[in-house]
Amino acid sequence: MGGSIVGWGAHLPELVVTNHDFAKRLDTSDEWITERTGIEERRMGGVCSTMAIEAGKIAMARAGVTGKEIDILILATTSPDQAIPATSSRVHAELGLSGGAFDLNAACAGFAYALVTADGLLKTGHRCALVIGSDTLSSATDQEDRSTAILFGDGAAAVVIKADDSPNFIVAYDLGVDGTLGDLLYQNHGGYIHMDGREVFRRAVRAEVDSISTVLERADLKPSDISLFVPHQANLRIIEAVNQRVGFSIDNTAVVVDKTDNTSAASIPLALVAAADAGRLHEGDYVLMSGFGAGMTWASAIIQWGPTK
Ligand SMILES: CC(C)(COP(=O)(O)OP(=O)(O)OC[C@H]1O[C@@H](n2cnc3c(N)ncnc32)[C@H](O)[C@@H]1OP(=O)(O)O)[C@@H](O)C(=O)NCCC(=O)NCCS
Repeated sequence: MGGSIVGWGAHLPELVVTNHDFAKRLDTSDEWITERTGIEERRMGGVCSTMAIEAGKIAMARAGVTGKEIDILILATTSPDQAIPATSSRVHAELGLSGGAFDLNAACAGFAYALVTADGLLKTGHRCALVIGSDTLSSATDQEDRSTAILFGDGAAAVVIKADDSPNFIVAYDLGVDGTLGDLLYQNHGGYIHMDGREVFRRAVRAEVDSISTVLERADLKPSDISLFVPHQANLRIIEAVNQRVGFSIDNTAVVVDKTDNTSAASIPLALVAAADAGRLHEGDYVLMSGFGAGMTWASAIIQWGPTK
């Protein structure tokens, strides 16, 4: 039993914070941030549940499904509203869903982890999954620390996956974690994000390149078979370094980091939704999503874009 994405939607909070806004109060500049990261602006002021609910509503309306038809919700997040209960409970109630719901924390690789999990649940008989990435890492960041404040924004994006007769939803996947690298990027309870940026950069490129190679091999596909590469949106230079090593062109890569910044678990689906809204995805296309994040986690998944009705 396979499945296809039949609906998608995104939500960004209204407040736009540009690099110039940071330069007014921190020892930084638009030039430094753009050159080092490709980021121009980000949205802030989001709440995990609220953004997830809005993105979920749009995805469900596009899919033409009611809440009752959805029998599983997976919310990928590292910035839930509360420690207990899981934020997915609130989202489940607001959207009037059936079946179960749970939060999944695999940091910025969370959405790809959630897609693979949804694939497994479709195979055990679920009929319709809502998968959402929602994060508000601007509130987990010390806004006085120029080395991290500029790197994170808020947002959410969602997809509805319906079981169908296609052979697979996920064509091939690779999940990984190296817990010995946990200290490279962490946030203690009640604290702010700490990060060794240079080392995260180096490890991220290596992890993503290895994971993409693995997943291409498992799917028996070449880089040129991938119609759209949807990478985690942390830094344009990381995306370019990965592309160069794997052999993807920037024209076949979904990029929103310039306008969204790093939105953690929301970043891959935000890029996917932007590509789908722009008509860049067609039935039969192979789409490769790949993310990395705190943990250090990584995840890659290849899907074949299905009929959207
Ligand atoms: C953080 C990052 C942008 C820094 O870029 P870089 O080219 O590696 O820069 P460096 O770390 O070498 O820092 C260079 C200098 O810029 C300074 N700097 C850091 N942030 C700055 C800012 N916003 N404005 C101006 N200068 C800044 C540093 O203090 C350092 O100064 P020093 O040499 O006097 O110590 C980059 O390493 C990165 O993107 N890493 C990955 C982060 C990431 O994606 N995390 C999330 C993963 S899910």
